[in-house]
Amino acid sequence: MAAVKIYRWGFVGAGGMAQALAADLEFAPRCEVGGVYSRTPQTAQALAGRFGGRVYASLEGMLADTAIDLIYIASPNQLHYQQAAAALQAGKPVLCEKPFTLNAAQLERLIGLARSQGLFLMEAMWTRWLPLQARLRQLLGQGAIGQPLQLEAGFHSRPPAAADNRFYNPSLGGGALLDLGVYPLSLASQIFGRPAKITSTVQLAPTGVDESFAAQFSYQNGASAQLSAGFDGVRRQDIVLRGSEGSLQIALDQGGWKQRQLTLTRGGRSEVFDAPYLGSGYSYQADEVVRGLEAGRTESETMPLAESLAILQTMDALRAEWGLHYPGEDELQML
Ligand SMILES: NC(=O)c1ccc[n+]([C@@H]2O[C@H](COP(=O)([O-])OP(=O)(O)OC[C@H]3O[C@@H](n4cnc5c(N)ncnc54)[C@H](OP(=O)(O)O)[C@@H]3O)[C@@H](O)[C@H]2O)c1
Repeated sequence: MAAVKIYRWGFVGAGGMAQALAADLEFAPRCEVGGVYSRTPQTAQALAGRFGGRVYASLEGMLADTAIDLIYIASPNQLHYQQAAAALQAGKPVLCEKPFTLNAAQLERLIGLARSQGLFLMEAMWTRWLPLQARLRQLLGQGAIGQPLQLEAGFHSRPPAAADNRFYNPSLGGGALLDLGVYPLSLASQIFGRPAKITSTVQLAPTGVDESFAAQFSYQNGASAQLSAGFDGVRRQDIVLRGSEGSLQIALDQGGWKQRQLTLTRGGRSEVFDAPYLGSGYSYQADEVVRGLEAGRTESETMPLAESLAILQTMDALRAEWGLHYPGEDELQML
């Protein structure tokens, strides 16, 4: 019997998110931390010390190592484009943290590169593979609420307000839309597709990035979505989707967008579905990457590249309305 292949992940960045995924790879039996490169060697060593893997002094060193099967980008937002491009140019498949890139023009280039190289590329929109989301897609596919018509979804938190952290710093691609808003936008996209009309209000922080926003999306078929995000500490405990025959309510775990319970209400009766997740919920996207690589696919069917691109185009449109432009985002030259 052929040995089962174990995929050795090369981590770029070793901060909070990298550590969370590294911990959850325990639940993805075909995956392990193969290597780590981070700006500060000590941070990389700390991750490798806990979860294994070789520490590299340079990104190029890790990309050149044939023992590394794929690259996971978990660096600050403004670095995703160049680092993902370098990985693809080196012939490695890529899973890239959200926001995929700062803007749609960057992602368009990355998609072109991945296609020309015949390599797998995916946005780490991990919530799409939570067991609850699979249940949601199944219920919607069965017409459990008839035609979906109204979505209310928001993601709010309260990070430290220091100008030098990634949340508020425009040079690090900060702001609530790219950090949090991408989740409700992605959910709306999954349910309704591309909006026909967008209106929004924004609260800008003194650093110029969006501290919070609220947007109303309208769709060709008459459906609508009210979406919001903010570093404002607003507590939202659920996502609500109303349809022509019933409604769905998704309970959010405190302080995040983790989802484990869904209530279907139809004809005056409610039914509760529990869909717990393993660890912090990040291992399911790793399984999706493995399925894609094993099948020789170059993208995920659940999070297609064209959809990631459409979401970034919508984010670009919102930022254009707000006059929010990131330093260096127009530099498309791959290094
Ligand atoms: N999916 C999710 O739920 C989720 C949650 C949080 C964040 N994220 C995303 O994950 C990414 C990282 O966020 P985070 O919270 O982990 O941030 P973080 O804690 O600040 O970690 C960022 C890491 O990248 C390293 N880094 C900085 N510059 C680098 C460079 N030039 N090359 C390589 N590494 C570099 C940092 O520096 P040192 O090496 O100096 O330590 C640090 O280890 C962001 O894009 C964010 O949007 C996703």
